[in-house]
Amino acid sequence: MDNQDFHAFHLLGTADGIVLACARLFAPGDYYEQAAIGRVVTAAACRGQGVGRELMRQAIAAVERRWGLVPIRIGAQAYLEAFYGSFGFVRDGDNYLEDGIPHLHMLRSASPPSSAGSSSAASPSPSLVTPSPRPGE
Ligand SMILES: CC(C)(COP(=O)(O)OP(=O)(O)OC[C@H]1O[C@@H](n2cnc3c(N)ncnc32)[C@H](O)[C@@H]1OP(=O)(O)O)[C@@H](O)C(=O)NCCC(=O)NCCS
Repeated sequence: MDNQDFHAFHLLGTADGIVLACARLFAPGDYYEQAAIGRVVTAAACRGQGVGRELMRQAIAAVERRWGLVPIRIGAQAYLEAFYGSFGFVRDGDNYLEDGIPHLHMLRSASPPSSAGSSSAASPSPSLVTPSPRPGE
């Protein structure tokens, strides 16, 4: 967690009350100039089963429900460039190191190809929650 979590929207994917996936969403101007999706993660036990793909599909849909058809920026781990590319994100600049891990910025335009992100993957039933600010924040 960091201080940015208190003004992010948190998308949680659960099954039988257990959180299997999460991501955080930012309004345009709150983290980057564009809307943003970050902290994309699925539970280690369910990886490789399509949950991450469904999480990203739901995250993009949630951004578009809240803020309309807006461009979305991510800071992606470099090894996932093809994954995010399948949702219409395109590289925006050179790789950089964050915590010693290669990353790159990727940008998804407000109107990417209509097939972007399509999948038949199972859904972990994500839901949106927003954390309450701590006292004094
Ligand atoms: C990245 C992550 C969210 C993927 O979740 P998942 O539940 O395994 O996702 P899926 O089963 O839907 O697979 C989605 C895609 O991830 C990509 N992917 C997953 N692991 C990968 C790996 N080791 N190398 C390359 N691509 C990989 C593949 O493109 C895969 O798509 P495909 O199998 O349909 O071609 C998950 O591995 C994770 O939480 N990793 C740790 C946190 C992290 O690195 N988050 C990303 C921050 S940018």
